[in-house]
Amino acid sequence: MSSSTETAACPFGHGAQAPAGHHGYEPFQMKDPFPAYAELRNEQPVMFDERVGYYVLSRYDDIKAVFDDWETFSSENAQAPVRKRGPQATKIMEEGGFTAYSGLSARRPPEHTRIRAVAQKAFTPRRYKALEPFIRQNVVDQLEAMLARPEHRGELVKDLAYTVPTVTILTLIGADVSQVDTFKRWSDSRAAMTWGDLSDEEQVPHAHNLVEYWQECLRLVRVAHEEGGDNLTADLVKAQQDGAEISDHEIASILYSLLFAGHETTTTLIANSLRVLLARPEQWQQLVEEPKKIPAAIDEVLRFSGSIVGWRRKALKDTEVGGLKIPEGGELLLLMGSANRDGARFEEGEEFDISRGNAREHLSFGFGIHYCLGNMLAKLQAKIALEEVARLAPNLKLESPEGIEFRENISFRVPETVPVSWEA
Ligand code: HEM
Repeated sequence: MSSSTETAACPFGHGAQAPAGHHGYEPFQMKDPFPAYAELRNEQPVMFDERVGYYVLSRYDDIKAVFDDWETFSSENAQAPVRKRGPQATKIMEEGGFTAYSGLSARRPPEHTRIRAVAQKAFTPRRYKALEPFIRQNVVDQLEAMLARPEHRGELVKDLAYTVPTVTILTLIGADVSQVDTFKRWSDSRAAMTWGDLSDEEQVPHAHNLVEYWQECLRLVRVAHEEGGDNLTADLVKAQQDGAEISDHEIASILYSLLFAGHETTTTLIANSLRVLLARPEQWQQLVEEPKKIPAAIDEVLRFSGSIVGWRRKALKDTEVGGLKIPEGGELLLLMGSANRDGARFEEGEEFDISRGNAREHLSFGFGIHYCLGNMLAKLQAKIALEEVARLAPNLKLESPEGIEFRENISFRVPETVPVSWEA
């Protein structure tokens, strides 16, 4: 897709309010979207992009206000396919009994409030804090295996970031930890089917994967009913048995969410943390010398290079954002990746600085009633990963950072590889 200077044709008849041009913004391009974001913030902070059918928002204050106003802006489109599902994929999914619906992120109050209250009780810091030694051991094992290679070369997505959070979430949920590749394959399909730009033909293998994925969520709920267990699925089933208002289908939907959200974005956070920090040896060295600075550095990574750079909302009534009228039913794409670099909120927002005072104000976990339920688990795992890399491999060198590619997607900014080398 290329930039165009023609007038955006708004399907709601607001063409006159949607000025021309895309300012270099390409919705599915993730390699370096930041110059286009800056231009959008300056030139057209609310732009209707007819190529995808979204009002694209790029300023911090506008995006935070939309996140915060769930009565006007619903999240019901957050998990909807950006590209319509084709007939073959639809048939495969119907015949496969695929009835999954978002666990939480696309649900609205009061349903969302009810389910979130149950999920939150099961999703306690106690449960995943107990996993900390296990996570650390897993990180150490992965790193030691990489560092034992005679060629002194590694690739941190494959060698570290891919496996660690996946094993963590599978353990938390009580799923089979030997099936990391299967769960990753299903998650990749979910990302591609929901936020990707696939043709009808390309959707077919992913549709089969989503059927298997959903059937596994239903099976895990059945197993928890039959056998109990010391895991989050069993906690949710127990809560139901103790009177909490939640159905088996809703519990399976929570698993469907967690088995994606619980590792995909953390894999990216660990990969981005090392990619961004190793590219700045001075700041990396500060963390090696003073590991207590790591948590603040992780917030700065989330601000500067978040795992999710765009998230969706839908207007439930006629409204206005940043001076532009948005009609009832209008769909919004909130560019948090842009908000996080907005100079009106973050001084020198385009600069990466681990000693920045207000990095935690980033919007990478959203804001308001849907604020990410797993943010602490994600940060805990990134912290452990950085601590152990700083301890075991302080002199890792990033190889050809400019050659790193990012998957095409409208929401998730995922580096394909993070190649590194080290001295003997
Ligand atoms: C770096 C890692 C992560 C990032 C960047 C991230 C980002 C997000 C974002 C942007 C939302 C939507 C917020 C909104 O609509 O306002 C969200 C919601 C959610 N996240 Fe995360 N997430 C991460 C890790 C995790 C993990 C590890 C888990 C679970 C183990 C998780 C579970 C959830 C759930 C259940 C929701 C839905 C909450 C609701 O709608 O009430 N996330 N996350």
